[in-house]
Amino acid sequence: ILLFIFWFSVVPIKTLVFPTESCTSFVEMIPQKPMNLTAFTLCMRVATELSSQREIILFAYRTGNYDELNVWGELDGRATVGLSFYMAGNPVLFKVPELRALITHLCVTWDSTSGLAVLFLDGKRSLSKIYKKDHTVSPGGRVILGQDPDIYLGDFDKHQNFVGEICDVNMWDVVLPDSVIQGIFAGQREPRGNVFDWDMQLFHCPNCVMCNHKILIY
Ligand SMILES: *[C@@H]1O[C@H](CO)[C@@H](O)[C@H](O)[C@H]1NC(C)=O
Repeated sequence: ILLFIFWFSVVPIKTLVFPTESCTSFVEMIPQKPMNLTAFTLCMRVATELSSQREIILFAYRTGNYDELNVWGELDGRATVGLSFYMAGNPVLFKVPELRALITHLCVTWDSTSGLAVLFLDGKRSLSKIYKKDHTVSPGGRVILGQDPDIYLGDFDKHQNFVGEICDVNMWDVVLPDSVIQGIFAGQREPRGNVFDWDMQLFHCPNCVMCNHKILIY
């Protein structure tokens, strides 16, 4: 496999397209700071037609031992049950409508001090849940889009991979106010993500093809 390192600060890419079910397609995103997080806001724009068929990985941050922070579209039997995120253990689940072909703006926020976990879909806020109070996300792992690594970077399962389109993956090491998340949904570019800033993002991307500022991943 050829590995290409892309640095898109000059020519920002618009979007990532994962056209097929595959156990090799993924993109690694290099964070701007260590991911020892006691709070975060993670946002993305995402569309997939798979959500009523199986579980689907939306974001994976893994260290050697743990899935430190994974975001999933969840399926229980044949029913979509919602979106969840996991930090080294059991998930916190939000019963929201399934993702579909139209692009949805998704954010999750969490704060260690209170344990408050909240999800936003297209600027609409969920109820608050209490999840992993006093936990700290561990640094030193790798963030990938497209696959769920069951080891540090590998052991991918094509029945869990992401098929669809994803962009505007931004992350902050604080919980942003609701009004700011609504602004980001509406297209405001501020405040810039200080963990991930999509417009300045360094990608490590095997088997990528770039076309009209879109990256196609096979
Ligand atoms: C993360 O680690 C860095 C470097 O060790 C440290 O300066 C920073 O305070 C840590 N952040 C948190 C939230 O623990």
